[in-house]
Formats: sequence, C-alpha cells, structure tokens
Amino acid sequence: MPERGPDFGRTSGAADARAGAAGARAGASPLLTVAGVSKRFRGLLAVADASIDVRAGEIVALIGPNGAGKTTLFNLIAGSLAPDSGSVRFAGREIAGERADRVCAAGIGRTFQLVKPFADMSVIENAMVGGFRGTADRERARDRAARALQALDMWTLRDRPASSLTLPDRKRLEVARALATEPTMLLLDEVMAGLRPTETDLMVAAFRKLNADHGITILLIEHVMRAVMALAQRVYVLHHGQIIAQGTPQQVTRDPRVLESYLGSGGVH
Ligand SMILES: Nc1ncnc2c1ncn2[C@@H]1O[C@H](COP(=O)(O)OP(=O)(O)OP(=O)(O)O)[C@@H](O)[C@H]1O
Ligand SMILES: [Mg+2]
Repeated sequence: MPERGPDFGRTSGAADARAGAAGARAGASPLLTVAGVSKRFRGLLAVADASIDVRAGEIVALIGPNGAGKTTLFNLIAGSLAPDSGSVRFAGREIAGERADRVCAAGIGRTFQLVKPFADMSVIENAMVGGFRGTADRERARDRAARALQALDMWTLRDRPASSLTLPDRKRLEVARALATEPTMLLLDEVMAGLRPTETDLMVAAFRKLNADHGITILLIEHVMRAVMALAQRVYVLHHGQIIAQGTPQQVTRDPRVLESYLGSGGVH
C-alpha cells in the first residue's frame, strides 16, 4: 500500500449526526473485548498488549500510522491469525485462535484491506460468496447478497463483472460481501481509502443506516479523518502495536501523543 497520512479532507458537516440513535442505544456490556493481545512476527512486535472494547451498537474507529498494527489486530480478532497471548471475547465467548470461518459464523464480518473480488464473476455472485455463510441454499445466499447490495446502493451494478468495477466500487463490493454474511459486527479495513469526499459521505451514510436501522456494530480502521469524525463515537489510536490513546474523536485529535505520532505534521511513517 502507498504510504499515506491521515486525510482530513473537509471535516465540516457530519459530526453532529454522530451521537445518533444507535449511539444512545449502545449497550453497557461489551460485545467485543480484546484484552492484552500481542502478536510477534519474528523480531517485530506488531501488536503489543493491546486492549479494546466495543459495545453492542457502537461505531468505533481504530486509527494510527502505517505499520502501526491495525490490520494485524483485525486479523487477530477475525481468526486470520492467532495471538501469542491475550484474549479476544465476542458475545461472551472466547474466540482467540479460532478459525476464520468459525469467527464469521459467530457474527463477525470483515473486509480485507487489499480487495480481490473474483474478477470473472458478477457483482451479485461475489456478494453471494458472503451470503452462503452457514447455508448451501442458493436462493437464501442470493437474497442476502441482494439486500447487502441494496444497502450499499449497488443494486444496479449487480450483473456487471467485478473486473469492470472502479476501485471505490470494488471497496463497496467488499463491504457488501461482508454484509451478506449477516454479521452482528462489521470490521472494516480502510474501505474509504481513495474515495472522493462525496463518495465518502455516501459510504458514511450507508454505515450510519446499517448501524441505526439494523443495529450492526462497527469497528473501522480508517485514515480518512472526515469519515472517522463523522461516524465514530469512540476512537482508539494504535502506534507501534500499542494503544496510545482512546476517547471521543475530539479528545484523541487533541491528544499530544496522537498529534506527535500520527496527526501532526510529518509524523506519519
Ligand atoms: N504476516 C506478516 N509477517 C511479517 N510481518 C508482518 C505480517 N503482517 C504484518 N507485518 C508487519 O507488522 C507491522 C504491522 O502491520 P499492519 O499491516 O498490521 O499495519 P497497519 O497498521 O495495518 O498499516 P497500514 O496503515 O499501512 O495498513 C508492519 O511492520 C508489517 O510489515
Ligand atoms: Mg492495514
């Protein structure tokens, strides 16, 4: 991936809608609890004793510089990697080290940072890959995929080959595939990277609707601060594998450690 820093774009606007119905509805007990999780790749401690909580109904963002360990933390939650130590609890059950398909079956849908749709398959067929979660019924999978495409405003693209999609549309398709698994919680890894501000706003609106109308809990990795400020009720900041700050978007964007390591000038590596 190209090196890039936080993208503030135009930050005016959507923050006011953040404390919406879903935020007020967020339950008191965590849906996801990551406690003291670490992951080492040979000499590199990619995630170092990281702990985060996400309550049911919340939208939480995970931000930090390139290489901070954000995607690795997602992989540890979603079962792509097993942690060296620590615990990951989801809906009251330990899932650390469980297989990715089992984690998905438990209700966690995730997107991949590098999107790789099946190029020769149509948009709806790609979304159906998610729709087959826990079922072999083609109609059921198609119905789930259709609803996911509609939620992301992609229905008119359903019969196009995935290879014909622009990068932003491939990213939306990646979200649709994850959504078609009918998750309780979505993990979104930089799905708004490379979008224009108007496209970002549409994606933000779609996520807010999924959260408010369908109660889907969202944890998103995002460099597009316009989207983070508009969506997240709380933000965690990861740096060198460690959570160095957490709080509301306003709190973390004023935190001196965050300014130094990530948001400040020249602080992104
Ligand atoms: N499978 C792996 N094997 C070895 N090193 C890895 C592996 N996956 C990630 N790393 C390293 O771990 C560190 C954290 O990577 P990670 O992809 O989690 O960062 P990130 O915060 O998602 O960065 P970005 O914003 O660029 O996506 C990096 O130094 C990366 O090179
Ligand atoms: Mg990443």
